[in-house]
Amino acid sequence: MLATNGRMKIAIQRNGRLTEDSVALLRACGLSFEFQKQSLYSPCSNFDLDVLAIRDDDIPEYVQDGVADLGIIGENVLQERNARVHILAALGFGGCKLMISVPQRSAIRKVSDLHGRRIGTTYPTILKAFLRDNKVKAEIIELSGSVELAPSLNVADVICDIVSTGTTAKMNGLRTFCTVLESQAVLVANPAAMRDKKKRAIIDRLMIRVQGSQEASGKRYLMMNAPADSVARLKRVIPSLKSPTVVPLAETGMVAIHSVVAEDVFWDVMEKLKKAGASDIIVVPIETIIR
Ligand code: PRP
Ligand code: ZN
Repeated sequence: MLATNGRMKIAIQRNGRLTEDSVALLRACGLSFEFQKQSLYSPCSNFDLDVLAIRDDDIPEYVQDGVADLGIIGENVLQERNARVHILAALGFGGCKLMISVPQRSAIRKVSDLHGRRIGTTYPTILKAFLRDNKVKAEIIELSGSVELAPSLNVADVICDIVSTGTTAKMNGLRTFCTVLESQAVLVANPAAMRDKKKRAIIDRLMIRVQGSQEASGKRYLMMNAPADSVARLKRVIPSLKSPTVVPLAETGMVAIHSVVAEDVFWDVMEKLKKAGASDIIVVPIETIIR
């Protein structure tokens, strides 16, 4: 049923670090679908794309083989699986590091100290390349999960695993000491889907929306009133998109100014605007910016 109903599919992680942000991104792109972690398949009612929720480790192969046309996946999993897919965009969420962690009291301080050790991991391919690049001869113990337990179970001496907040490592008496790979979520496509005219048109439409929501992220829309003669001064304070919109108000000598400001500087900008004569300052979130 899945592969044959002719609708395009995007694979996302069913239940994990990327799930919430993946769903939020698709919703920000205007896709309307019911998402439940139990259901594998969520049809989208207003766009020719259905959402397939699966184990993240399966996403690279699914997209490579065309079971799904698109996928949202961490670069860590993508690189480990070595799948032939087309990377459309880095998504700016799901940031994490693949790191080597050692027991708290371990004497290991530098990469060369790993010589002769057993390293437990679910990332044997990436780890192998890292060890080779660093000319370290260590034994890779390939595990299928719960890697953080390996040192205390004496299955491995150290581990190579994903660290996001660092809580898991700490709770298991481990100290992170070197980064093997930095990763974030990426949007990927099946190469044949990119060459298919109909599918490509849908991918292009989705990409415009993805870029729109990425443009908007971290930005706020700013509106304020000000005396017309303060506009020149205010303009210098507003780091606007191109130039701010200035419209006259019914009250003579007063104008309304609209602009876009970055989230991280917006309090600074507001304080300066107030000092420069602005009043009734309103700040609202922006959902998308299409250029
Ligand atoms: C990783 C890793 C740890 C956890 C670390 O799993 O295996 O369990 O995240 O996160 P923390 O530093 O915030 O404690 P991942 O999310 O990659 O899940 P998966 O391997 O089960 O897909
Ligand atoms: Zn996984």
